Formats: sequence, C-alpha cells, structure tokens
Amino acid sequence: MRVVVGERMGGPEVLAVAEREAPRPGPGEVVVEVAAAGVNYMDIYQREGVGNYRTDPPFVPGAEGAGTVVAVGSDVKDLSVGDHVAWAGQGSSYAEQVALAANRVVPVPDGMNLQVAAAAILQGMTAHYLCTSTYPVREGDITVVHAAAGGVGLLLTQMVKRRGGLVVGTTSGGEKVELALQAGADHVVGYDGFRDIVDEASDGAGAHVVYDGVGKDTFDDGLAALRPRGMMVLYGAASGQVPPVDPQRLNSGGSLFLTRPTLVHYIADRTELRWRAGEVFDWITKGELDVRIGGTYPLSEAARAQEDLAGRRTTGKLLLLPGL
Ligand SMILES: NC(=O)c1ccc[n+]([C@@H]2O[C@H](COP(=O)([O-])OP(=O)(O)OC[C@H]3O[C@@H](n4cnc5c(N)ncnc54)[C@H](OP(=O)(O)O)[C@@H]3O)[C@@H](O)[C@H]2O)c1
Repeated sequence: MRVVVGERMGGPEVLAVAEREAPRPGPGEVVVEVAAAGVNYMDIYQREGVGNYRTDPPFVPGAEGAGTVVAVGSDVKDLSVGDHVAWAGQGSSYAEQVALAANRVVPVPDGMNLQVAAAAILQGMTAHYLCTSTYPVREGDITVVHAAAGGVGLLLTQMVKRRGGLVVGTTSGGEKVELALQAGADHVVGYDGFRDIVDEASDGAGAHVVYDGVGKDTFDDGLAALRPRGMMVLYGAASGQVPPVDPQRLNSGGSLFLTRPTLVHYIADRTELRWRAGEVFDWITKGELDVRIGGTYPLSEAARAQEDLAGRRTTGKLLLLPGL
C-alpha cells in the first residue's frame, strides 16, 4: 500500500510517497481503509520537529481521517469489517490503510459521506470543546473568533451562534469575509480592527472570551479586548508561538483567565470522545452544521496541501484522498 513518509525533519520537501506492507490489526486494533485523511497544523509541527509533536523519522504523518474497517483484531467485539469509522489524535493517516486503537475510533452515522466525516472530526470536536467546555458560551456573550474562515474558525463560529453568543470574527479579507458571515459571524473585520468592534458591541465592557488559534500576532490585542474576568483561550499558533507571559498581565487586565487547551485532554475518555463526536455528527446529519471542504489532494501532493495550509491560502478543511 502507499503511504506518505517523512524521511527526516524539515520543510515540505521531506514528504514523499512510499510503498509499505499493509498493516495487520494487533490486539485491540482495527485496520481501516482510509477514504480521507485530514491535513492539520500538528502534521506540519511534526514534520518540523516542533515541541510535543516531534517524532523520530521516518514517520508517516496524519492523525485524523475516516474510512472503512477492513480487518478486526481478535479481541475487538463492537466493530466489524465494513463499518464506517472516523478518528482524531491517532494513526499515521496519510496512507491507504492504517491500524487504529478500536476504542478510540467513532462510528460514522449511516449515510454520512466519509469525506465530510473526516473533515469534521478533529476540528469539529475542537470547536465543540472550546465553546461548550473550555469557556461555555452563554446567551448574549461577546466572543472573538480569530481566523473565522479557517477550519476550526468556521465550525466554532456556527457553534457559538447556536449557543446564542455574538461573534466578532477576524480574517485577512477577500472571500474569507463572506464565508465567515455565512457561518453566522455578526461582525467580520481584519486583525487590526477587532478591538474597536468589541468595544462598540459591548458598550466598552470588552469581550467575555477570545478564541485565538492565530497566536503570536493576535495575543496581545486579544488580552486587551477582554472584560474583567474574561477568558483568553489560546488554542493554536498559526502565526507563531506566543512568547512567555508575565502573570501580572492577567492582574492588570482585570483578573483575566488564560488557558492553552488541547483536544486530547477534552476527549480523554471514551464517553467524552463519543459525546463530542456524536453531537458534531448529529448536527451535520440534521443540516444544522455546515462543513466546508476547502481542498482535496492525492497522497502525492501532501507537501502542497501542508504548504497551502501554512501559506494562509485555504478556507475550511483540507483532505488527502488516497483514492485519487
Ligand atoms: N488546541 C487544539 O485542540 C487544536 C485543535 C485543532 C487545531 N488547533 C490549532 O488551531 C489553529 C488553526 O487550525 P486550523 O486547522 O483551523 O487552521 P486554519 O484556521 O484553517 O488556518 C490558519 C488560518 O490562520 C490565519 N492566520 C493568521 N495569521 C497567520 C499567519 N501569520 N500565518 C498563517 N495563518 C495565519 C489564516 O486565516 P486568515 O487568512 O483569515 O488570516 C489561516 O488561514 C492552528 O494553530 C492549529 O494548530 C488546535
């Protein structure tokens, strides 16, 4: 079978397609034929060898996807060949087949397109935990959603709206403005203008929460946009990592809260994983959550997909399709 391999750490050029023996399921595992693999920033960090994401080469990137079970470990009772499943946070998914821990995959509802499932599972559960658990948005809350036309941003905007929050979304402009508005954002502005809009919308009080996946370029203004006891939810670093923060800034900003959450801690047990994935898939099935697939690529173009994501050229979700 074909996989994408990173033979060493480095730029996109280190990724190449290679032939590997198809995996066999170990105890507690299933082997899945990958219909679509999600492309995520964490794949780029892994390739660059950044922080927690570092893996010794050679490595097969990818931690998200959806597909069809083709083999089942002897002790796996609740999955069968032919089942449709999705996963996030495991697997070397830039591949035609992948072995996965059976208790960490989730069933894809009957009739749901596997590309849609792959596009929604990681970013959908991320948006879900950010606005239901990290800072549970209440009716009337003023929220800032940075990169509102991005993969997480489009889903988070829709989920904040369904909870009754007001969304001030940021984008770099162009078609991204229209996409963020279609997702339900009440205001869409550039990164220089969001503090003024928050001021107007809150009569000078400030935002209840800032959801920041952009990081270095937006963090300071985000802290300044919060009301006393507001929460900065720093969940990513598309523009680079935020440098170390002096805790006294939270004091002078008005007893602010700062958290740096990660999905894995919000799907730590099977019940929580099933609950988040189940709600996301249910909303999609009912037509209440729109999932935008911004680009699809064959395995041989994995490098281009990662470059497009990092190069800010994309909206919604990027997928690798091993069948292309
Ligand atoms: N903590 C978690 O659990 C978790 C889970 C998933 C993702 N994440 C993180 O969330 C962030 C967003 O992920 P995503 O997959 O949804 O990506 P994305 O938002 O689709 O893409 C990143 C977007 O950030 C904006 N951006 C602003 N400044 C940028 C810069 N200097 N360079 C590149 N992009 C810039 C761009 O939108 P504009 O052109 O509109 O500015 C770009 O399209 C990433 O940092 C990712 O690692 C975290």
